Amino acid sequence: MVLIVDDEPNNLVTLSRALGLAGYTVETAAGGREALERIAELPVDLVLMDVKMPDLDGLTVLERSRETRPDLPVVLMTGHGSYEIAKQAVKLGAKDFLDKPIEKDRLLVTVRNALALRSLELENAELRRAAGVGPAGADLVGAGPAMARLRELVRRAAPSEGRVLVTGENGTGKELVARAIHEQSRRADRPFVKLNCAAVPAELIESELFGHERGAFTGAATARRGKFELADGGTLLLDEVGDMQPAMQAKVLRVLQEGEFERVGGSVTVRTDARVIAATNKDLAAEVTAGRFREDLYYRLNVVPIHVPALRDRREDVPDLAVRFLAEACARNGRRPMTFAREALAALQVHDYPGNVRELRNLVERMAILSDGPTVGADEVAAALPGARRPRVDRFREGVGFHAAVEEAEREVILGALAAHGENIAETARVLGLERSHLYKKMRALGIRRGEEER
Ligand SMILES: Nc1ncnc2c1ncn2[C@@H]1O[C@H](COP(=O)(O)OP(=O)(O)OP(=O)(O)O)[C@@H](O)[C@H]1O
Ligand SMILES: [Mg+2]
Repeated sequence: MVLIVDDEPNNLVTLSRALGLAGYTVETAAGGREALERIAELPVDLVLMDVKMPDLDGLTVLERSRETRPDLPVVLMTGHGSYEIAKQAVKLGAKDFLDKPIEKDRLLVTVRNALALRSLELENAELRRAAGVGPAGADLVGAGPAMARLRELVRRAAPSEGRVLVTGENGTGKELVARAIHEQSRRADRPFVKLNCAAVPAELIESELFGHERGAFTGAATARRGKFELADGGTLLLDEVGDMQPAMQAKVLRVLQEGEFERVGGSVTVRTDARVIAATNKDLAAEVTAGRFREDLYYRLNVVPIHVPALRDRREDVPDLAVRFLAEACARNGRRPMTFAREALAALQVHDYPGNVRELRNLVERMAILSDGPTVGADEVAAALPGARRPRVDRFREGVGFHAAVEEAEREVILGALAAHGENIAETARVLGLERSHLYKKMRALGIRRGEEER
């Protein structure tokens, strides 16, 4: 069953008719709230959803649907130029996008692919269950010694009930490690719930963590469970924990100490048995020293520390990862399987990946889409890596000094990428595989301004 969600009645009619004629069972919802109700009560296999809706936007619905149906494929229907939305949507697990206005052929292909992929995934999960292998979700690729050590740490930490603090740069695989721990723990068949601590607005902290009763505040039309309750019996990932506001730190600390809380607007005490895993790209000890992170909370979270090394410090894993990502990208984009030429893998291995595994993954995805042969060659890698080039001896001429030379190189890469992408920060950050905030920070440190800011 395909659920179509759009606040525009005409779109609902056109889309349901097209899919109905193609033989699909169709349900519709005229808004975000209605969509969540349908998802909760009907055997929906796929959701096609508008992003802009007056009551609850598509991204929020996508995120909330993850609480009850983490595996439900969602295709978002977006207008032009909504790259930021697309990026967020991918993070939340959107499967695909349809540009509005929607062409009928494109619609049918997208729906068919999404449903085919879904039945493959289900079949796969079934086979794995039958074979007694864990879910495919969190296998950590990489045969090098650093990954072997990491897997061993995960294997040892998982069955204990200890809290884990996962640290590492952006895109190194912290979330994947957290999921692996969950899947290898005896909580594996209970929920894995994620909370992005950096993204909770101050006025919603309590409601996010503890939930609220109906009518607890304006806008609380229905009761809602908080993350601690949703993760009961399972695992709660406190992501970006280093960016948690002080007010939230105090509330989290209280739950960790007491194991219980009240919903907003409610008087009943709820006990929670959620195993907490925290993740951050910050040096949390330094945050404590700087007075930005509570020491008592730090010690409660940092029971088992696990550090995920940067990709440039374990280059031996690049080929394995690249091969895996290429296979996945081909499958996802409906392309015949491709391979890398040996020189292409070598070229991939010398890049520094400031955005770590995520950057490599995006890069490979781009190559899979752009390449037309069955083999990806070194020249295609070179073309796909903006700013990457052979080491140049002249940068290191005497008297320049190592740090100045490195800064100069960074400046060149960033200026080049900015120029190539119309000074658009979001786009530049994406091609460089950096978080936007990280790019801004770098630019500030290097004294780079965008063209329009110079005036
Ligand atoms: N060892 C690995 N094997 C396979 N895929 C990996 C591995 N490490 C990371 N990935 C993939 O790289 C991407 C980034 O990983 P993840 O989201 O876990 O990183 P993160 O450290 O949480 O990043 P951020 O700091 O930006 O939140 C994901 O798509 C993940 O599946
Ligand atoms: Mg993460």
